[in-house]
Amino acid sequence: MSNIYIAPSILSADFAKLGEEVAEVERGGADWLHVDVMDGHFVPNLTFGPLVMGAIAPLTKLPLDVHLMIEKPEEYVPAFAQAGAHVITVHAEACVHLHRVIHLIKEHGVKAGVAINPATPVSAVREVLTDLDLVLVMTVNPGFGGQAFIPGTLRKIRELKQLKTELGFDHLRIEVDGGIAAATAPLVVEAGADVLVAGNAVFGRSDRSAAIAELRNSLK
Ligand code: DX5
Ligand code: ZN
Repeated sequence: MSNIYIAPSILSADFAKLGEEVAEVERGGADWLHVDVMDGHFVPNLTFGPLVMGAIAPLTKLPLDVHLMIEKPEEYVPAFAQAGAHVITVHAEACVHLHRVIHLIKEHGVKAGVAINPATPVSAVREVLTDLDLVLVMTVNPGFGGQAFIPGTLRKIRELKQLKTELGFDHLRIEVDGGIAAATAPLVVEAGADVLVAGNAVFGRSDRSAAIAELRNSLK
């Protein structure tokens, strides 16, 4: 496992054989499994909830990286913690009391992350950075897999990396999500990202191991 984590997003998997899909990326060298939860309100799409995630959890040793694209995420934190989440990430834009939600996640023994949309500045997480394990910089507008990477987000990744260095927060992970493939992975890593979510770039290919290897090789 390198210092750069690859987190395939099951949003792009074949839901009819989810267990096999998860096993395939685990064999293929994934570091985390990214679980995209959408509510049809915060984002214009619906996926799955803690029941489906709880069905996957016993099938894999991969840490489950839960990305909540939902309103009132605090109402679902206990259920996702119970279902086996390793990290729970909530959107800054969805939380009026962000500090409280972060601490709720941690009280459940789960690592806490905050995501920011492309239009949200890094300053939205500045005051809570000390409480976080991860910041997720959205590199597309959330809601769908297979969208094009937004190059303007690189500046925010750099800003966050600089802040992380200045504060000495070595433990803080910088995750990127959306449009990550062999062409964009080196750009985000150069900017400071160390967790790469990849949906289409992994599950859109018949050979998932080769797809993960290609992502890693693009970083050499
Ligand atoms: C987008 C989701 C992403 C998505 C990424 O709203 O949060 O995790 O699955 O998909 P790709 O890698 O295909 O852009
Ligand atoms: Zn995601």
